[in-house]
Amino acid sequence: MTAIEIRNVSKTFGNYTACRDVNLAIAEGEFVTLLGASGCGKTTTLNMVAGLEDASSGDILMGGRRVNELSPVERDVAMVFQNYALYPHMTVARNISFTLKMRGVPSSEIKERVEKVAAALELSTMLERLPAQLSGGQQQRVAIGRALVREPRYFLFDEPFSNLDANLRLKMRAEVKELHQRLGVTSIFVTHDQEEAMSISDRIAVMNGGRIEQLGTPEEIYARPATRYVATFIGSPRIELAAGEIGADGAIKVGAAAIPLPTGAGLAPGRPVDFGIRPEYVALGDSGIPATVRLVQPVGPTTHVTLDWEGGTLLASLPGFVRLNSGMPVKAAIDSRHLLIFDRQSGERLSH
Ligand SMILES: Nc1ncnc2c1ncn2[C@@H]1O[C@H](COP(=O)(O)OP(=O)(O)OP(=O)(O)O)[C@@H](O)[C@H]1O
Ligand SMILES: [Mg+2]
Repeated sequence: MTAIEIRNVSKTFGNYTACRDVNLAIAEGEFVTLLGASGCGKTTTLNMVAGLEDASSGDILMGGRRVNELSPVERDVAMVFQNYALYPHMTVARNISFTLKMRGVPSSEIKERVEKVAAALELSTMLERLPAQLSGGQQQRVAIGRALVREPRYFLFDEPFSNLDANLRLKMRAEVKELHQRLGVTSIFVTHDQEEAMSISDRIAVMNGGRIEQLGTPEEIYARPATRYVATFIGSPRIELAAGEIGADGAIKVGAAAIPLPTGAGLAPGRPVDFGIRPEYVALGDSGIPATVRLVQPVGPTTHVTLDWEGGTLLASLPGFVRLNSGMPVKAAIDSRHLLIFDRQSGERLSH
């Protein structure tokens, strides 16, 4: 069943359009992320779902019912923001339990629920402190705890981890995902961090300039990006694209170099394209395109190697640590089945 539906929603501020014809149907229990660069309309979209912002046109539906005119409270959403002000004069425990108290939940149950949430968020030893006695990251965890403890119908997260240090961010990601697996609350999560989006979401809506450019599972948007923009936005290290032209002989021509096309690509010769390959599908060996090593960056499980070739820059992710030096000539073998080929003009993907 569809839990939340955003139907042809646009939002204008004066004559600036922040969201344009956004359509998104989120299933009951699904975890969907709005992903995109700063200013692409993520927060505006989320705020319209929350009821904090009116849609200029279009409909927001929850549980099949149009909610455009309903207040945030009537929508039964809990929101976690990047900078969520806690009540400064209340302890952590009271901050978390405040809304439960307001609703008349029995105090024994409140205690149990607060303790459970505090344990999940590693706040158990801080329950009697005031917000001023916590670090920024700890305060943010209290804000998350305050939303979690309510067990609302829908969770909306707006970059909740962006003020946390890298380790804590990874930990919180896992916490939120596990919590979602356990409780199954329909959630919309906003981030500009593609890796965060990939690791936490059932589906991702990649936004660009106020539109949803692609909606799909993490695997779909990674392996089959609909556009050049999505291909380069998703993936770390970032995919490098090169400009070429479809040749008559089943290859992409880049100057004197030829990159074999996958069989059955069915692309008309002479067509200008941009193309690239994810770094894990590039191997260095005895055959392939001539290239020169520019940079070698080991990260542990893999080593990122930046290569220069006729088409510009090419990245290879090689397993483990490798013995390569800057300036070394190599041959880069590309697994053609994983080539991503885009129409130069429209930026849309041509390969399947
Ligand atoms: N109240 C407002 N008045 C005018 N313009 C606004 C208003 N709120 C947002 N905008 C503009 O709408 C666009 C989308 O803003 P939004 O906050 O939704 O972006 P975002 O994707 O959340 O970005 P970020 O990652 O930086 O948080 C931006 O260009 C922003 O400047
Ligand atoms: Mg935002």
